[in-house]
Amino acid sequence: MKLISSVLLVAAALASQAARAADPTLFDQLGGKPGIVKIVDTLLPKLQSDPRIRASFDGIDMHNLSLRLKEQICVVANGPCTYRGKDMKLIHDGLHITDAHFNALVEDLQDAMDESGLSPAVQNRLLARLAPMHRDVVQP
Ligand code: HEM
Repeated sequence: MKLISSVLLVAAALASQAARAADPTLFDQLGGKPGIVKIVDTLLPKLQSDPRIRASFDGIDMHNLSLRLKEQICVVANGPCTYRGKDMKLIHDGLHITDAHFNALVEDLQDAMDESGLSPAVQNRLLARLAPMHRDVVQP
């Protein structure tokens, strides 16, 4: 009896491992917290030097932005984090962000993810989860 239950336990453990391998969370695919840190640390200097959007980041607390963005990406990727930032609509209110600005940020994010060696499939998975934020970032 004992033997059967340990065989069952091992089988269950293997099955859940296989399930995880077949369906990794986006958090895992991004390389966990170190992977997300790398993406954001690569992204922020790009935003600050991109002529299309760098003016938006003049005088902004980039250290805070870096921490909040890492938390937020971790959360949308189903990682073990808590977003401690402000409401997205409130923080972007009055910044006059256009579709062109939004697209520029997405391109810079894609470049940052390319530099981390992430596949287009993984990149698209993250972008799809950020896309609904468009309505809070680009306001009429
Ligand atoms: C999906 C796209 C975007 C995401 C996920 C995002 C996320 C964030 C987050 C998490 C914060 C920090 C909130 C806090 O401090 O509590 C923030 C702030 C900010 N974002 Fe965005 N953002 C996006 C698009 C943009 C775009 C396109 C621009 C301008 C080109 C922009 C400009 C800013 C600025 C200037 C701040 C700082 C505001 C302040 O500290 O007063 N964001 N964003």
